[in-house]
Amino acid sequence: MTVFRPDEWVLLTTQKGKSWLVRIENAPYSSHLGTVNMMDAVGKEEGEFLETNKGVKLFLLRLTMEDYIFKMKRQTQIIYPKDLGAIIIYGDLQPGLTILESGVGSGSLCLALLRAVGERGRVVSVEKREEFALLAADNIKRFYGYSPPNHDLVVADIQHVCLKVAADRVVIDLPEPWGAINKVTPFLKMGGLLVSLSPNVGQVQLTHRELKTNGYIHIQTFELLKRDWMIDALRARPVDRMVAHTGFLTVAKKVNRATAMLAAF
Ligand SMILES: C[S@@+](CC[C@H](N)C(=O)[O-])C[C@H]1O[C@@H](n2cnc3c(N)ncnc32)[C@H](O)[C@@H]1O
Repeated sequence: MTVFRPDEWVLLTTQKGKSWLVRIENAPYSSHLGTVNMMDAVGKEEGEFLETNKGVKLFLLRLTMEDYIFKMKRQTQIIYPKDLGAIIIYGDLQPGLTILESGVGSGSLCLALLRAVGERGRVVSVEKREEFALLAADNIKRFYGYSPPNHDLVVADIQHVCLKVAADRVVIDLPEPWGAINKVTPFLKMGGLLVSLSPNVGQVQLTHRELKTNGYIHIQTFELLKRDWMIDALRARPVDRMVAHTGFLTVAKKVNRATAMLAAF
């Protein structure tokens, strides 16, 4: 177990789960629960606590990827952790693979792709808007503590980009995914999987049409609902509110185009 060091980011967390992301530096941190001296965290292990001047214990935790995604700066819609988990399994993402991603937005998906492919893999991200590319690069650097050398971030329109990549997987989160399918397909290896996330079902219908004419089979679309529950001595029931809809996931396998056309009949 590594102890906390100066300049590290730490999640100060109450017993009930309220949390603040704070840097360990020579400065006090104050909230309505009182004040702590952040340098007192140095040398402590994850799971130990600091006590505020009001006597409240704040646990010292390291960030999980889920924590970070909800705390990081976001200027676009992001892919939520529940959908990221599904993309990893249904997209069969593995260490060592090369993934082509577009667009990168705030970088939520990209964080998960980089972890899934590991140091032996590669992620090539194509983002049209420079300000989002910079934001994503910053979010990724803050999470990993460095800019992963196996990440190529290209500022370009996916519909016109020139790339030298033979991808094992393509993962797209674009407002017009159907317009990108015939552009990304040449970059995807035969037998590779394409995953697309779209919030509207109209987008999904157009995406299916393009997938079928571009040599994809086994096209499946689904959505995932995550309903949290409150559990204590008096209650065991779903919470009142939930994020009811994030997006539809579509997964498809690239095969020989002529074979795919035959399979359609
Ligand atoms: C919903 S956001 C992606 C969010 C991202 N998946 C995440 O988890 O943070 C969609 C992104 O696609 C980008 N985009 C839209 N059209 C594009 C295109 N033709 N080529 C490249 N990027 C594009 C937008 O600028 C935006 O950043």
